[in-house]
Amino acid sequence: MKYYLTTAIDYPNGSPHLGHAYEKLLADFLSRYKKQQGNSVRYQTGTDEHGIKIYQTAKKSGLTPKQFVNKNSKEFKDFYKLLNIEYDYFIRTSDKKTHWIGVTKIWKELIKSGDLFKKKYCAKYCVGCETFKTESELENNECPLHFGKKLEIIEEENYFFKLSKYRKRLIKLIDSDKYHIQPKHAKNEILSFLKGEVKDISFSRIKSKLPWGIPVPGDKDQVIYVWADALSNYLTGIGYGTNTRNFKKYWPADVHLIGKDISRFHAVYWPAMLLSAKLSIPKKLLVHGFINDDKGRKMSKSLGNVIIPQKQVKKYGASSLRYYLLRAIPSNQDGNYSEEDLIVRHNTELANSLGNLLSRSLNLIQKSCGEIPFGKFDSKLSKEYSKVLISLNKHVENFDFHHGIADIWAFISKVNQYVDDTKPWKLSGKEKDNVLYTLAESLRLISGLIYPVIPSKAEEIAKQLGLKSVPKFKSKSIKSGTKIKRGAHLFNKYEK
Ligand code: MSP
Repeated sequence: MKYYLTTAIDYPNGSPHLGHAYEKLLADFLSRYKKQQGNSVRYQTGTDEHGIKIYQTAKKSGLTPKQFVNKNSKEFKDFYKLLNIEYDYFIRTSDKKTHWIGVTKIWKELIKSGDLFKKKYCAKYCVGCETFKTESELENNECPLHFGKKLEIIEEENYFFKLSKYRKRLIKLIDSDKYHIQPKHAKNEILSFLKGEVKDISFSRIKSKLPWGIPVPGDKDQVIYVWADALSNYLTGIGYGTNTRNFKKYWPADVHLIGKDISRFHAVYWPAMLLSAKLSIPKKLLVHGFINDDKGRKMSKSLGNVIIPQKQVKKYGASSLRYYLLRAIPSNQDGNYSEEDLIVRHNTELANSLGNLLSRSLNLIQKSCGEIPFGKFDSKLSKEYSKVLISLNKHVENFDFHHGIADIWAFISKVNQYVDDTKPWKLSGKEKDNVLYTLAESLRLISGLIYPVIPSKAEEIAKQLGLKSVPKFKSKSIKSGTKIKRGAHLFNKYEK
């Protein structure tokens, strides 16, 4: 089955931070998980390269906007590679050959539906959020997400989109889960927003103030507002306006995964645009929380509590950082980042539980004859594995990834317990062969289970077992007679 999964596209106006990394990692987990089930997945991410913020930062750094985004977008790509994030397509909104064509097309569709009109207005604008703010959204006349950043007063004539026209249809779609918003609290928040007054929204900017953007078709004085431009990436990245066959293959998206600060854009503005353009609605919107510091405070330069993910990868390696973020931070709520907790989990759950299981099992097999013996897989563990697959799937579908990962590690503990209980070093003959075979088969299954979480370690386990690749969730058991290739320990422990 096709599975089209997207993340938000990041503003490349600085280096990628922990929040960016976390989101791409959640999507990478989901993408690899769906691949393990045998789906044909397309995972799309990218960079959102227009807008006032990018334009101003580029100017300050003495580069043209294009030079600036070229440099920074590469930094995002390089960093995601370092974290072993395997997307299938990286979209850049400054790409004129694909993205611009598709955005122009959707604009024309909105015009055809009679949903864009020109209006004069004056309002407060937060450059940090790239969005207008109403008085009720401000605290002490400042944007609560960007304290200390001056709000701009924008007075101009722009194109507006008739959002209000779609209010009732959106309520129906969301309430009935046809557009399924998870977690529930995010869905409720959106429904209560839609039950209040919904205003039409500005969809363009004056070109003389913001020359860095996609021109409004047929109006040389206006550029398309950064959000209308950015949201369309989900269509243009699969060929809307340029490759109809590919577009038809993947649309509608199965999942948009985004952070809570941009849920309104994705839960309200985006489906309204799609309804107006007579396109189908995505199936699911997953809204993740924010990562705060170990005391639950927002990370900020002024507090000096910013965790730099690039440094964490250097210190602990991509696998430990991936494991920690996916296992310790709840996917559907805010979470705290604690380096101390990362070290504890690395030592106990990765080095002890998983690493030792591999080395002790392969030691036993090596001592026996160096290849997988003829034996039978323990029926209790086989049932446990089936149970894990069911509960893991339930948690993934509920957007509770962290609980699903806890289930995988509970299975690893059960296999460790099996070694302790059966004491294979005391056994011989058929009995011993059965236990060693069970260990090899369990490790093969574990390699498949952990692949979405720590793919390079899953590959290492498969290699040491003498397998060509990481097995899918449902695949043939390990062949007796396979020669194992014992290698280095999976993890070294850290001192606290
Ligand atoms: N460019 C827009 C998104 C357009 S999508 C059509 C944008 N970019 S962003 O760079 O500011 O944020 C990218 C993603 O990172 C968003 O989903 C945002 O919620 C997420 N995060 C930013 N800071 C975060 C944390 N501290 N923690 C977790 N995720 C956060 O918004």
